[in-house]
Amino acid sequence: MERTLLAIETSCDETSVAIVRGPGAVDDPTAGHSGFAPTEVLANVVTSQIDLHAVFGGVVPEVASRAHLDKLEAVTEEALEAAGIAAEDIDAVAATCGPGLIGALLIGVSAAKAFSLAWGVPYVGVNHMEGHLFATFLEQPDLELPLVVLLVSGGHTMLVEVRRPGVYRYLGSTTDDAAGEAFDKVARYLGLGYPGGPIIDRLATEGDREAVNFPRGIIDEGLDFSFSGMKTAVVNFVRRHPHVSNADIAASFQEAVVDVLVTKAIRAGHKVGARTLCLGGGVAANSRLRERFAEAAAEEGFAALVPDRAFCTDNAAMIGAAALWRLANDGATPLDSGADPSLKLTLT
Ligand code: KG4
Ligand code: ZN
Repeated sequence: MERTLLAIETSCDETSVAIVRGPGAVDDPTAGHSGFAPTEVLANVVTSQIDLHAVFGGVVPEVASRAHLDKLEAVTEEALEAAGIAAEDIDAVAATCGPGLIGALLIGVSAAKAFSLAWGVPYVGVNHMEGHLFATFLEQPDLELPLVVLLVSGGHTMLVEVRRPGVYRYLGSTTDDAAGEAFDKVARYLGLGYPGGPIIDRLATEGDREAVNFPRGIIDEGLDFSFSGMKTAVVNFVRRHPHVSNADIAASFQEAVVDVLVTKAIRAGHKVGARTLCLGGGVAANSRLRERFAEAAAEEGFAALVPDRAFCTDNAAMIGAAALWRLANDGATPLDSGADPSLKLTLT
């Protein structure tokens, strides 16, 4: 059954509302098909709070909650208008219910529940990480399974095997900092600003990626990651070599992180016999990672999906896609369910 769904994402520092349309699930998926039905994104409005947090060098939870509250109504109206949809045409509402900042999550969840009651339509609570996984299906619902997704964001770094939507297995994760956190901390140390990922990405294009041979964390072992030592190596190097340009440091650090991420994604793909390798999360917007990931996957015989940048960083369209699928498969979420800042992906 085709539905028009309004989705809200407020887990961190982006206030986003999307309108998506689709049945969520395919009635009779062929073997190897994901089972997720093609979905139309009618609107995907994302407003960032970066300017509000930049002066503090990172996200301030209370500032984030207040800004979501401030912006959500206008962003919702903008999304409905962009989609050319009236509130009466909405069949379901969804919101990210975790993981994330609790105050920020509660703004989106409370708004979605209020819409659900006011409009008399079902509510779906969505796991933010499942949303990032669905960003891949959103673009290509008939991806060949099983697939391995490298999810790299400001809060998470993980390799997940997706046998089909809803059936996940963790293959590896970070033992300390997340990849995005490492980019942000290195940028802060170099005095480049916040968030560090996009700034380092840009600066790296002017630098020599072979200028400094930074350590590659635990690149030779297993599928877990460690980025904290790489960040410390940058700090120690810069102290000893203050004359080396920030562009060379940025390019060399980025190359080291990308080396580790790509090596482990390929190793994970081989380990589970994946057909497809996908990227997700904010760090998947990184130009060098996108280039190296696609090249390496092709060389090793995997299909690769590198989603559009707009679906990599936090956005409500991916939450809407996951919600349509959940609604078709599991039904609505009870209105007395809450928000959970450390919600885990349900593994099957
Ligand atoms: O997924 P996301 O938007 O929010 C979280 O769920 O965390 O990811 C944000 C993270 C930040 O650490 C940011 O620095 C990083 O993604 N990021 C990038 C790039 N764009 C965003 N890292 C490297 N290169 C980029 N181009
Ligand atoms: Zn995210």
